Amino acid sequence: MRGAAQGVLEPRGRRPARRLADPALVLGALPVAVVLLDAECRFLFANSAAEQFLGASIAHLSALRLSDLVPADNPLFLLIEQVRAHDAPIADHDLTLESPRLRKTGITALAAPLPEDPGTIVLVLQDASAARTLDRQLAFRGAARSVTGMAAILAHEVKNPLSGIRGAAQLLQSSVAGPDLELTELIRDEADRIRGLVDRMEMFGEKPLARSAVNIHRVLAHVRRLAQSGFAPGVRFVELYDPSLPPASGNRDQLIQVVLNLVKNAAEALAGQANPEIQLLTGFQHGVRVAVPGSPHRLDLPLWVAVRDNGPGIPDDIRPYLFEPFVTSKSAGSGLGLALVAKIVGDHGGLVQVESRPGRTEVRLHLPVVPDEDADA
Ligand SMILES: Nc1ncnc2c1ncn2[C@@H]1O[C@H](COP(=O)(O)OP(=O)(O)OP(=O)(O)O)[C@@H](O)[C@H]1O
Ligand SMILES: [Mg+2]
Repeated sequence: MRGAAQGVLEPRGRRPARRLADPALVLGALPVAVVLLDAECRFLFANSAAEQFLGASIAHLSALRLSDLVPADNPLFLLIEQVRAHDAPIADHDLTLESPRLRKTGITALAAPLPEDPGTIVLVLQDASAARTLDRQLAFRGAARSVTGMAAILAHEVKNPLSGIRGAAQLLQSSVAGPDLELTELIRDEADRIRGLVDRMEMFGEKPLARSAVNIHRVLAHVRRLAQSGFAPGVRFVELYDPSLPPASGNRDQLIQVVLNLVKNAAEALAGQANPEIQLLTGFQHGVRVAVPGSPHRLDLPLWVAVRDNGPGIPDDIRPYLFEPFVTSKSAGSGLGLALVAKIVGDHGGLVQVESRPGRTEVRLHLPVVPDEDADA
């Protein structure tokens, strides 16, 4: 962000220029506490969420230091010290902020230096204990979004030269022999591999979702056929379906991609294992609802689909980052499979839940159904 323009931001790119809101207004609307501290930890700024969080108005805060609200031995001060020492952002989780004026537990604090103003710290405070699962789900959607911009750059900067490299290798192939031939093949194969990766990243692009009524059982059957005739020939498939399931409201191709990624992961986890089994399950469950961003409405997610395997379980070190892009335990994995699952399910307004222990890993998707038009009458 160094050198970023102050004030009104102008988006660049193909879309016609549209004025974005003033950053101060954005900070004010942000439902996350953001404060600015000077070199002596005096409050320079607090957005309204921070005023609420700290229980004091900005007028009051501007006369205070952080140490007036939080005891000096709190790990928060260590965090701030480290940020100043390393000149880099640092996050700390599960903090307790306890003093006569403040009583908060399970706080995530993120502190970052302000390069334009040495000593000044931007501090973001978030109560992570409330609605933790949902928070994670939303965070995962955000993680997937960060790939979007990168995919566009890669597509432009990598794909075009790559076809040139591939073509050149193919031309060389006709004029060389022996070990050199192997090298040209290596260039071609590696170029194809990178192209495949970029193609997958392009799927993170923001496109409007074309929804229709999707029969989830057909989606599952399609993926099962692909798996049995392709990447999971020796695996036993068990289908446990709710036959009265109504159609999901979604995009068939994208939902196939989601289930395919889950079944691929399950099959890969089962490689080399005795009695490999993948269960595909569906069901109907009332009471799963999520907020619809930007509206007072809640979206019902009564339909669930699960992919379960009897593999070794998700490695512990990966679990907290499971849905983030490029997180993988596989030597040939790109770590984009579950990030794409989170992105697509998020676009559908749905939720992803994961449960994993040795011998039983289940990824469950909660999806909306086609609204019943007659219900209003
Ligand atoms: N069913 C599962 N059992 C055990 N571990 C799993 C399972 N599903 C996912 N994982 C773990 O989560 C990681 C991330 O999965 P993800 O699908 O995002 O990427 P990947 O499979 O490694 O690569 P890619 O899907 O891009 O080929 C995997 O590398 C694996 O460690
Ligand atoms: Mg995968």
